[in-house]
Amino acid sequence: MNLSDRPRRLRTDGVRPLVSETRLEATDLVAPVFVDATADERVPIETMPGHERVPLSEAVARVREVLETGVEAVMLFGIPESKDERGTRAWAEDGVVQEATRRITAETDAYVITDVCLCEYTSHGHCGVLEDHAREDPNLTVRNDETLDLLSKIAVSHAEAGADMVAPSSMTDGMVGAIREGLDDAGFESVPIMSYAAKYESAFYGPFRDAADGAPAFGDRRHYQMDPANAREALREVRLDVEQGADVLMVKPALAYLDIVRAVREEFDHPVAAYNVSGEYAMLHAAAEKGWVDLEETAYESLVSMKRAGADLIVTYFAEDVAARL
Ligand code: PBG
Repeated sequence: MNLSDRPRRLRTDGVRPLVSETRLEATDLVAPVFVDATADERVPIETMPGHERVPLSEAVARVREVLETGVEAVMLFGIPESKDERGTRAWAEDGVVQEATRRITAETDAYVITDVCLCEYTSHGHCGVLEDHAREDPNLTVRNDETLDLLSKIAVSHAEAGADMVAPSSMTDGMVGAIREGLDDAGFESVPIMSYAAKYESAFYGPFRDAADGAPAFGDRRHYQMDPANAREALREVRLDVEQGADVLMVKPALAYLDIVRAVREEFDHPVAAYNVSGEYAMLHAAAEKGWVDLEETAYESLVSMKRAGADLIVTYFAEDVAARL
């Protein structure tokens, strides 16, 4: 036996931190926050243990809880008081996200990112304006170009309320360009866009759709979100967003798509974000509840894997719990 190369030499407690390749920090994390205009008290989200929808009156308090853990950024999702065919409450000046953003930016130092989409605001739950024949059409889809104007209006209304960054998630072709133009025309050329650039049609969004009340009333999202089978297409999607002015490139979901995170990291120089989605959170909680896995360890390991794959920042429901442990 002549073993000169022994990797185990570098695994003692003393040396492990010195040779650690990946570091996860609280400032890498973004905590999603759900603000519900229909609630008058905090409502636990059953499918996402530890998370709740908070009324507007609790939005600031909720964000302060996040900040106490060392996480400095939040992503706001709104549940409006009413929904309609075009999702008009999404760009209302007194809309739930706009009002929450005003309060949070006035009273805290949190970096506020807003989700720019229509699915929580439309009565049909789709991410844009529907074709008239949509219900009968197996190829049901949203009117792409008409939706662009609405997305731009939503983003501008968020910026006017004080949002630090906007994050369009509807997978509408041209959404980044339309939003960039809208923001610039309104004088918000310094507000960055984090594009959900490669967003897959994923069953891992299940618990979120419960949480945000944004499940499609009929059909699914596969005519606008990406096919999980495709990787090259993700690079094409990301490239289009880069050309249109995206500042941060997001891959979503994260765990089942770490190859995409890595590919985007290698191909582009922009910051890369991974969205550790609701189903990824819920499945660890469910397994931990049964005593089958350790929640803290598996959560940390999941997030480290995303950074190792190349993510600079991670949107995650584990943000507070993991940050508290770091
Ligand atoms: C809105 C949006 C969704 C998520 C984030 N923004 C839902 C969807 O696309 O169906 C999912 C987040 C998660 O599952 O944690 N379009």
